[in-house]
Amino acid sequence: MMVGTSISNEVDGIRAPTMWPTHLIHHRMAANWSFFDRITLRATVRCKLIACDTDPRHTFWVGRTSYGESRIKEDELGRLDNQVAVVTGAGNGLGEAIALRLAEEGARLVLGDIEVDALADTASQITKSGGEAVTVVGDLTDEGPAIQLVETAVERFGQVDILVNNLGGSRNTKIWEMSVEDWDYVMRLNLRAMFLCTRQAATHMMKRRRGKIICLSSGAREGTPWTAYYQGGSGYSAAKAAVHGFIRDVALELAEFDINVNAVAPGPIDTERTGPMLKKMDASVDFSPSRMTPMKRLGLPEEVANAVLFLASDEASYVSGHTLAVAGGR
Ligand SMILES: NC(=O)c1ccc[n+]([C@@H]2O[C@H](COP(=O)([O-])OP(=O)(O)OC[C@H]3O[C@@H](n4cnc5c(N)ncnc54)[C@H](O)[C@@H]3O)[C@@H](O)[C@H]2O)c1
Repeated sequence: MMVGTSISNEVDGIRAPTMWPTHLIHHRMAANWSFFDRITLRATVRCKLIACDTDPRHTFWVGRTSYGESRIKEDELGRLDNQVAVVTGAGNGLGEAIALRLAEEGARLVLGDIEVDALADTASQITKSGGEAVTVVGDLTDEGPAIQLVETAVERFGQVDILVNNLGGSRNTKIWEMSVEDWDYVMRLNLRAMFLCTRQAATHMMKRRRGKIICLSSGAREGTPWTAYYQGGSGYSAAKAAVHGFIRDVALELAEFDINVNAVAPGPIDTERTGPMLKKMDASVDFSPSRMTPMKRLGLPEEVANAVLFLASDEASYVSGHTLAVAGGR
């Protein structure tokens, strides 16, 4: 690598953000484009090192992902450095993608799930990439494990800055066939762990007067045609609408403590478990997920994780009580 003497905060027409301290943009290094694989994005990122000083933490990359969007990465100076994040349902799907994305930005993770192997796999992906992750296995809709999850963050890392209430799921049945057990199961799965973990984390966040709480709602909060027409999903829709009510109220309760409470509402996302079912519908029914979505495609787990990252970061410091749709325009 050659260190040049030119002063520049721009490479190939892409400007470094003005918030970067100017003293960091006094050396221009690595004149060659390089490729590296961002494991958690599952996309190749074409990037270029544009600025560096004598401190190895202060290296900046600018580039484009294979999705075509502009993307700027501050190498090793993560947006969540020194922060501790708790993620529920982190063994699979969106929880896994969210955990990896937060870890990538420097957060230390405390991960909860009921599936031992899946949870261990998420944690090992984080530690192999140089991050820190602790796991708590258990049914997080029970009070004991939910409290233990949050307390593990405080015991191991001394704090909890971010809570992602990701845990959720559905049992789809038409309303005239839905059993009381199915209804109760869906309410419990989507709302109980969210309540228990939020209550526990709030006490710690209030003491430090800082914190970000993000809950997973869904496009289903307003009804989902491809589910409603073909399978039924009123329990799930009711629970995901309740997430919106929950974050609206808790945001008001915790505002005076500078704690932000928001939700992300994904549309149809191509996760390992839900993706195959959504694709099957795309191939077989009229009101299919992709046809009913203005962007005409399923979303990627990483696209949901990026929205959660924004709400978990200081960039969202004045955003609270908001449900952010990540649903391709629906
Ligand atoms: N995938 C989608 O298209 C989509 C769309 C909108 C909203 N969502 C929401 O996003 C969140 C994640 O969805 P996903 O598709 O990644 O789900 P998923 O089923 O792939 O993963 C859920 C995780 O939660 C864990 N889990 C289930 N019950 C548990 C319990 N009682 N205690 C602890 N862990 C438990 C599972 O083991 C799994 O690892 C959910 O709240 C879901 O409603 C998903």
